[in-house]
Amino acid sequence: MNILGIETSCDETSIAVISNDKLTANLISSQDFHAKYGGVVPELSSRAHLQIIIPLIKDALKKSNLELKDFDLICSTAGPGLIGALLVGLTFAKGLSFSLNKPFIPVDHIEGHLYSGFLMEDKPEFPYLALVVSGGHTLLVLVKSFIEMKILGTTVDDAAGEAFDKVSKMLGFPYPGGPQIQKNAESGDENKIDFPVAETKGYDFSFSGLKTAVLRYIQKKYPDKSKMTQQDLYDISASFQQAVVKALVQKTKQAIENNNIKSLSLVGGVAANKKIREAFNELSHKYQKKLVIPELQYCGDNAAMIAFRGKTLYDSGKRFGLDYPPYPGFKFEDYNKSKSSL
Ligand code: KG4
Ligand code: ZN
Repeated sequence: MNILGIETSCDETSIAVISNDKLTANLISSQDFHAKYGGVVPELSSRAHLQIIIPLIKDALKKSNLELKDFDLICSTAGPGLIGALLVGLTFAKGLSFSLNKPFIPVDHIEGHLYSGFLMEDKPEFPYLALVVSGGHTLLVLVKSFIEMKILGTTVDDAAGEAFDKVSKMLGFPYPGGPQIQKNAESGDENKIDFPVAETKGYDFSFSGLKTAVLRYIQKKYPDKSKMTQQDLYDISASFQQAVVKALVQKTKQAIENNNIKSLSLVGGVAANKKIREAFNELSHKYQKKLVIPELQYCGDNAAMIAFRGKTLYDSGKRFGLDYPPYPGFKFEDYNKSKSSL
């Protein structure tokens, strides 16, 4: 069985091929030009996806030694994401599915991340607890199978990645902020500034207060921003990063203690963060749970996770018309509601 995966939800165009259960291509083209605008410009993103999608598919076919007509299943991210960007991959996938007369599977981007641990040799075991940390989402999910999952908690305001990006911008670093904060934090003292960890109910997260605390700290301490030294930038980065790690670990700990799980998985773009990965390693040792963190190419947005998730939906008997989803960019919860009625 040959499966095509397409991901165009934000600023990465990615094409993947799974051929007879083996990932034969996972090509990712990142739109680096957004850096000069300080964030992703939606319209420019859609145009860039349009320009690169066909060349990438050709490359993926070549790498996999396949032709278009060999595909048995076409999967594409259906949401959430930037609407114009999503439309590029989604419409392409539907057109291909129609012309080849092969089934089309719309994939929820977050579910793609959620199951991305399965792209690794050593896979998660059900039931597992997943922390999904990306630019747009922060979710603690109890994953019982490929069809059953329960969201335990989410962010009540900013996503973890969003907080990294916003604080990075305050410090004058380029977009995306996560890797910049991580790099600067390496030379800083994480105990220098005591940034707050929000008190939220249940398994929910909140990063907006932390972001404001960093802003207030900078405004108060450095009315003249040019007085900020390189070491100040390092220390703020390290202290902020530590507060994020603390918040993520605190809720994950609670969730491990209160749920009967076999494994633990850390996924999404922010899962690339070294300190968060280390903290999860400690958690896995402390609680004796198997830990699966995807390698870096499967943490950020990629089509391998979309092809894989599409395959599991197809194998579970899910079928979708070309009129699905009702609109691109819908919310995770809406997606699950409408899916369960199929
Ligand atoms: O999953 P992803 O590629 O896209 C979304 O679905 O949002 O996640 C992107 C996010 C960005 O906010 C980026 O700053 C963050 O992941 N990120 C990191 C690191 N690498 C990427 N955050 C912290 N540390 C990193 N090393
Ligand atoms: Zn993502």
